[in-house]
Amino acid sequence: MAAATTWSSFFLITDARPAHASCIPRERDALLAFNEGINDTDGYLGSWQQGGRRQHCCRWVGISCNKVTGHVTQLDLGQSFLVGHINPSLISLEHLEYLNLNGTGITGPNGVIPEFLGSFQSLKHLDLSEMPAFSGILPRQLGNLTKLEYLDLSTSNSAVYSTDVSWLSRLPRLVYLDMSYMNLSSIPADWPLVVNMLPSLEYLGLRGCSLSSASQPLTHLNLTNLQHLDLFYNNLSHPIASSWFWNITSMEHLNLDETYLYGAFPDALGNMTSLMSLRFSHFADSVTIVYPTTMTVDLKNLCDLERLTLDESLSGGNITEFIDNLPQCSSNRLQYLAMHSNNMVGMMPTDVGKLTSLQLLILSHNNITGPIPPGIGDYTYIEYLDLAHNYLTGSIPPHIASCTRLVHLLLSDNRLSAHIPSKIGMLRNLTELDLSRNSLDGEVTREHLVISRA
Ligand SMILES: *[C@@H]1O[C@H](CO)[C@@H](O)[C@H](O)[C@H]1NC(C)=O
Ligand SMILES: *[C@@H]1O[C@H](CO)[C@@H](O)[C@H](O)[C@H]1NC(C)=O
Ligand SMILES: *[C@@H]1O[C@H](CO)[C@@H](O)[C@H](O)[C@H]1NC(C)=O
Ligand SMILES: *[C@@H]1O[C@H](CO)[C@@H](O)[C@H](O)[C@H]1NC(C)=O
Ligand SMILES: *[C@@H]1O[C@H](CO)[C@@H](O)[C@H](O)[C@H]1NC(C)=O
Ligand SMILES: *[C@@H]1O[C@H](CO)[C@@H](O)[C@H](O)[C@H]1NC(C)=O
Ligand SMILES: *[C@@H]1O[C@H](CO)[C@@H](O)[C@H](O)[C@H]1NC(C)=O
Ligand SMILES: *[C@@H]1O[C@H](CO)[C@@H](O)[C@H](O)[C@H]1NC(C)=O
Ligand SMILES: *[C@@H]1O[C@H](CO)[C@@H](O)[C@H](O)[C@H]1NC(C)=O
Ligand SMILES: *[C@@H]1O[C@H](CO)[C@@H](O)[C@H](O)[C@H]1NC(C)=O
Ligand SMILES: *[C@@H]1O[C@H](CO)[C@@H](O)[C@H](O)[C@H]1NC(C)=O
Repeated sequence: MAAATTWSSFFLITDARPAHASCIPRERDALLAFNEGINDTDGYLGSWQQGGRRQHCCRWVGISCNKVTGHVTQLDLGQSFLVGHINPSLISLEHLEYLNLNGTGITGPNGVIPEFLGSFQSLKHLDLSEMPAFSGILPRQLGNLTKLEYLDLSTSNSAVYSTDVSWLSRLPRLVYLDMSYMNLSSIPADWPLVVNMLPSLEYLGLRGCSLSSASQPLTHLNLTNLQHLDLFYNNLSHPIASSWFWNITSMEHLNLDETYLYGAFPDALGNMTSLMSLRFSHFADSVTIVYPTTMTVDLKNLCDLERLTLDESLSGGNITEFIDNLPQCSSNRLQYLAMHSNNMVGMMPTDVGKLTSLQLLILSHNNITGPIPPGIGDYTYIEYLDLAHNYLTGSIPPHIASCTRLVHLLLSDNRLSAHIPSKIGMLRNLTELDLSRNSLDGEVTREHLVISRA
């Protein structure tokens, strides 16, 4: 049996010899025709030449071939800064599996993404990201690329648009899909149904796509592998709980910054036990919170959670209860907790629980009352502590000197009183200390420390 296998492999190689020796002439001609449409002022494609020693197109820059058949399988001109046009001659590369033109100024006729890209039957990887010369409508012919596993169409200009993404459902092998900053404002609101037909999907990037809704019940969830969902900067403005993604327990990174979702976070969030980061911040003066937004979900089982950022997005809450609901795992990974300007009331819990991995804690611009608990000294990894603009009272606990990694300590605009613990001066890495607008007395003296105590 083993011998038979060896023989057949041997014959395969022998049969392919003529092709392998140079490269398939039809494919070489297609590449040369493509090259004619490219303005290669830097000579990047210098190796792409007809004739002589350089006949072997498999050795040209950016090209890879199947070692057995000699067919071109990869065309990778990513980050090459070439400009020009995609010649339809490329269709001859029937065995192409990998096409990367990211970061180039290459475009199709009239600046559109050419429809013929849908003809590469074997394509698995298509990267057309950051190609500023593209504009116009996204061709639905991409739905013919049924073997596609990776599709990156993300861009920083939004001149490419689509009015219908139903063709995506014909790409069931997709693992990675990024359409960030494409204009999808006109696609039907039930677009999550299309996404739900991509069961292999692990990454979905839809930043800044002008989507106006993510509200869609899914009767059956096929997306059991989705780990990364980015909806940053889409004005969704509907209840958080009606979003389609809450039952996806494989989720690791969920970015809902500037989505203007409102209402209560659903309890299903507490079941997302793979979650590593959740972002739900509104920024600056872009919006005043019109609708009440609250987070009272029990997050105790989210043992992998590393980052939670909820800046300027909640309309209120009780900080004692909020911290009590944070992960309570034997190895707590929570490193970043940022939630300034959320109208939080209540006191800092006396017991810091298991938040001992915190490196950054921002609770500024809330209505937190009571003292800074001595337990703050247990945050031994903390580098950034911002409790400014609250109603904190009492003295600064000397235990803070145990936070030896502190770089920024911001306690201004509170009602702190009594002596500043002199031990603060021993925090060697501290470069920013703001104690202004309190009723503190005493001095901190140390070189290279910017101290505000107006
Ligand atoms: C090729 O690029 C150079 C330098 O950017 C430019 O001067 C020239 O007009 C371009 N030629 C074509 C045919 O686009
Ligand atoms: C572009 O392609 C290169 C490989 O040529 C890859 O390393 C890089 O991450 C890609 N850039 C983007 C933005 O996808
Ligand atoms: C490719 O897709 C288009 C539009 O979706 C369709 O009309 C066409 O028949 C497809 N071509 C092939 C070769 O499958
Ligand atoms: C997106 O396309 C719509 C029309 O479909 C247009 O009204 C809107 O201005 C576009 N948005 C952006 C950001 O270009
Ligand atoms: C996925 O789920 C939908 C329900 O939204 C169902 O109709 C469909 O058959 C499922 N199909 C696949 C391939 O995932
Ligand atoms: C999530 O699952 C619950 C029950 O398990 C169901 O009631 C709810 O509709 C589901 N949410 C979505 C958005 O599909
Ligand atoms: C979001 O859209 C709503 C209308 O759907 C609008 O009232 C609101 O001002 C928008 N918010 C932002 C921040 O653009
Ligand atoms: C959380 O998961 C448990 C077990 O799978 C399930 O019984 C419960 O309904 C889920 N809760 C929510 C709010 O989805
Ligand atoms: C927080 O304090 C501000 C200023 O004192 C006050 O206007 C606001 O009503 C307070 N919010 C809550 C939720 O207590
Ligand atoms: C905050 O919650 C704690 C614990 O439930 C409670 O004792 C306290 O009264 C609450 N504080 C405010 C201001 O509501
Ligand atoms: C202080 O900062 C330096 C440089 O960033 C770092 O190597 C050192 O570990 C820090 N010291 C402490 C006590 O964290």
